[in-house]
Amino acid sequence: MTLTSARRPEIKTALPGPKATEILKKDAELLSTSYMRPFPFVPHQGEGVWLTDVDGNTMLDFMAGIAVSTTGYNHPHIVQAISEQAARFMHVCLTDFPQEGVTELADRLLAHVRRPGEPWRAFFGNSGAEAVEAAIKLARNHTGRSHVISTIGSFHGRTYGAITLTGSKTKYKRGFGPLLPNVSHIPYPNPFRPPLGSTAETCGDAVLSYLEDTLFKTVIPADEVAAIIIEPMQGEGGYIVPPADFLPKLRALCDRHGILLIFDEVQAGMGRSGKFFSFQHFDVQPDIITLAKGIASGMPISAMLAKESVMTWPVGSHGSTFGGNPVAAAAALATLDLLEGRVQHPGCGENLMENAERVGNFLMAEFRKLAAEYPFIGDVRGRGLFIGVEFVDEQGNPDPKRRDAASVAMFERGLLNLDCGESSIRLSPPLILTLEEAQVGLEIVREALAAVR
Ligand SMILES: Cc1ncc(COP(=O)(O)O)c(C=O)c1O
Repeated sequence: MTLTSARRPEIKTALPGPKATEILKKDAELLSTSYMRPFPFVPHQGEGVWLTDVDGNTMLDFMAGIAVSTTGYNHPHIVQAISEQAARFMHVCLTDFPQEGVTELADRLLAHVRRPGEPWRAFFGNSGAEAVEAAIKLARNHTGRSHVISTIGSFHGRTYGAITLTGSKTKYKRGFGPLLPNVSHIPYPNPFRPPLGSTAETCGDAVLSYLEDTLFKTVIPADEVAAIIIEPMQGEGGYIVPPADFLPKLRALCDRHGILLIFDEVQAGMGRSGKFFSFQHFDVQPDIITLAKGIASGMPISAMLAKESVMTWPVGSHGSTFGGNPVAAAAALATLDLLEGRVQHPGCGENLMENAERVGNFLMAEFRKLAAEYPFIGDVRGRGLFIGVEFVDEQGNPDPKRRDAASVAMFERGLLNLDCGESSIRLSPPLILTLEEAQVGLEIVREALAAVR
């Protein structure tokens, strides 16, 4: 593979520079104490996969605003769609009036999931958490059952229903109770850290058996469970890919008990994994899908898609003032153009999903070579540009200290990155990342790993 040279990030001042320092100080004084600030970086201008801060430092972005900026920054096709719609109208409430662009968006999203004889419908909100709330409301309303089962390590958002479902960190729940009743968690089948005394090969079956033979026999009557919600590839919990047969078997279990299966595709969906939905890597179909993040290249919009046979809630029972905003919907349609290859992005082959697969495979292969050189990289996993790299100590236990040191070393050299799980770094760059830009990122990673060895 020949790689032409791509520019390196440009760090002109020690980070944070003078302007950033000023803004960070005000930010610390004025904004909510709940915000995290993993790195002292204050963005000013974006272009493609590059972000320049207020002091003129340019960074290569391997986090895309937490897996959001699918088409990079300021993609001309997205900017044009937003401008044209903004000039027409920026808001007319979808709860009251249908809108051309939103109807088209529903059709084009649903085209990726519906099968002959199986119609689907779409509900639009503003955030991932809202899509998740809509999904659990619909599941309860449709089934007349109240229990919802989620997974340990999951992240579903910050609203009350969503934090109750979330199973990744207790800090999201501490001091906020009481939460939603009738929610339980089962382990996620993580092949690298198999739960319930299982192995990489048996972890899926172990989780299913725990659910069927323990939980349903001792704690929750299966016929009172409305839904099981799961990330087909777990994001915040560590960018984990379950064993190939797990989701189809979970589907069969749900069918046996009349339980709805909700796939939370907020982080792994929208082409990031190399397929439109991450569950499409497995032979399985859910009843409900939640989508947000990458759907509109950074404009706030989310969707809850459900089989028509499930979306039976009555008129007026659910809605949102801003949900399905027409400007955000225009950005989503333009994002789909690029994902599906109706509009081609130069240098990215036929479409962005194909690019995600190609560049993701390249990155994973290179990271696996690095793992052979640096034993503290315990696992490299993922699909497409949804990649997790787990740091371990000499005993193979999670090593968050080394992970944090590596993450800072990458940042200091100009690579924006983000942690996930107990000791992993997630690579979730814009899907327009080229092989050349990936190579630049890898050069920085190599330097950073050498610095923390
Ligand atoms: C899988 C998943 N679901 C839901 C959410 C919540 O999305 P939002 O922050 O837009 O509410 C997230 C956010 O990280 C997520 O990763």
